[in-house]
Amino acid sequence: MCGIVGYIGNRQAYPILLDGLRRLEYRGYDSAGLVVEKGNTVTRVRVQGKVAELAKKVGAQVLEGFCGIAHTRWATHGVPGEVNAHPHCDEEQDVFVVHNGIVENHELIKRELQQEGCKFASETDTEVIPHLIKKFLTEGASLEVAVGKALKLIKGTYAVLVIAKSDPGKIVAARQSSPLRLGIAEKEFIIASDPSAIVSHTKKIITLADGELAVINKDGYVISELQSDTIIDKKLEEIEWDMSEAEKGEYEHFMLKEIFEQPEAVKNSLRGRLLFDEGMAVLGGLKQVEDKLRKLKRLHLIACGTAYHAALVGEYMLEEYAGLSTEVCVASEFRYRKTILDPETEAVLVLSQSGETADTLAAVKEAKQKGVLTLGIVNAVGSTIAQETDAGVYNHVGPEIGVASTKAFTSQLTVLALLTIFLGRQRDMSLVMGKRIAEELRALPVKLEKVLAQSERIREIAQYYIKTTNFYYIGRKYNFPVALEGALKLKEISYIHAEGGPAGELKHGPLAMIDKNFPIMAIVPQDSVYEKNLSNLAEVKARNGRIIVLATEGDSEITKLAEEVIFIPKTLEMLTPILSVIPLQLFAYYVAVLLSKDVDKPRNLAKSVTVE
Ligand code: G6P
Repeated sequence: MCGIVGYIGNRQAYPILLDGLRRLEYRGYDSAGLVVEKGNTVTRVRVQGKVAELAKKVGAQVLEGFCGIAHTRWATHGVPGEVNAHPHCDEEQDVFVVHNGIVENHELIKRELQQEGCKFASETDTEVIPHLIKKFLTEGASLEVAVGKALKLIKGTYAVLVIAKSDPGKIVAARQSSPLRLGIAEKEFIIASDPSAIVSHTKKIITLADGELAVINKDGYVISELQSDTIIDKKLEEIEWDMSEAEKGEYEHFMLKEIFEQPEAVKNSLRGRLLFDEGMAVLGGLKQVEDKLRKLKRLHLIACGTAYHAALVGEYMLEEYAGLSTEVCVASEFRYRKTILDPETEAVLVLSQSGETADTLAAVKEAKQKGVLTLGIVNAVGSTIAQETDAGVYNHVGPEIGVASTKAFTSQLTVLALLTIFLGRQRDMSLVMGKRIAEELRALPVKLEKVLAQSERIREIAQYYIKTTNFYYIGRKYNFPVALEGALKLKEISYIHAEGGPAGELKHGPLAMIDKNFPIMAIVPQDSVYEKNLSNLAEVKARNGRIIVLATEGDSEITKLAEEVIFIPKTLEMLTPILSVIPLQLFAYYVAVLLSKDVDKPRNLAKSVTVE
């Protein structure tokens, strides 16, 4: 859950490292630090707080050197603070390490090192790494050998970058379950947790796999297997990201930019994937497993956070239209369940924007272990989950930077709808129905624009509610998960307490909380459960609850029940979540902005959760 970046080449390292950290800051931002090497001298600067604080601390100081490593942290072991900020080093300040991941056996290693006389400066799990490396260096090993020996003793997850004063002009990097990409330019190399820190310098990258170690100097690099020392010839990939996709442009926040990118995101997820005459979806990434998919009797959807909410919508789609029994489980619970999986007739489909979420990845590994087909709906091309799954579909919506997921969600729903057509047409879905869903999907971007055009009015509604301390979101069927997602958006960026639930459950508990100060956000499009939802609204009204309702354009009935109504265009019931979530994203966004919260980097959260 941290971001790491390293540079070695012909240019000054500091500005490149700082820029890299700024781009990786979504991965963690409670402290930051870097070390720059010039010959046999190194300068380390660390701060508690964001990357801007680090830049402030460096200030006018000249940090010269053509090699360096840097880190932005999201604390797991040890409180956020300067002493716990990376890079960490040994007592002699020779070996410097930045680390993303968790050293699970750090207590044991620390105890052993302390018995040998080693003194620790921080409370972190990471600090054992530089001490171990130094120990092996002192015994005569080269830096790469010492790093290899140290990592073989470590249990857990890591992406590490290491430099040593005693072996200058070299970065040693290795990965185990945490992402690491090496960017290759003309006589310079940038190595980072994700391509956003690399693509402004080069689009040529290599993805390090688990158990690989790279030794990089300004003239080249060698990648080998950590366990066997065998040198590996890795494939160069061309990154397709356009750098402007990772810039805010005219928008005040990445989140707002990403909300407004949704019509385009849906288009990109659909591009080339619909055969209108055949009422069919073309999903190239599933071609090789098509026959297996035809035999499926049950599909398990597994994900975390917003992607989990998308999976819940997918469950309704796949059961209703593809006639496929579907189970949804949060990834962090999947590993504790003894889910019965039949490799002949069942498959696991994980959803992940980053493709790096530790719990989701663990679910993939667990499913593979049980011999079950694993599929992924992933946004980050080449990410670990994309590589680990047997087959899958990319979202193709470009980088999502705001911690609160928005365009990834609507894209996940779009891909799930495509998958519903694909699996449905393999089964009982009629040509007419296939065509109908395809047409409705095609019409979505224009409808999304219509919803977005109401942003000013949503901002006015948000203004009214900024002093509210509690919110309850309700919806039924396809829009029940949207209620969960709306509440998640509000709590994660505005810190206002918000919960969501199925409208039918209101009278089984939540209704007790409702009074004039406890508003309800209700998602009530004119669909198959419309009448039932109206009854729930009446129950709230009778308790003096204030209601904001999302309704279908032209619904005059509902205006009598609600204080505020936001309209969404009519679409197929299964696609309503793609439209109804937009006002909820905007509402949360404006409430947070009006409360002066740090929208793109909410406290205590990170974009990519690479720890369990
Ligand atoms: C974090 C992010 C969420 C995201 C979740 C799952 O909690 O803040 O926005 O939905 O992780 O991430 P993934 O990358 O697997 O979709």
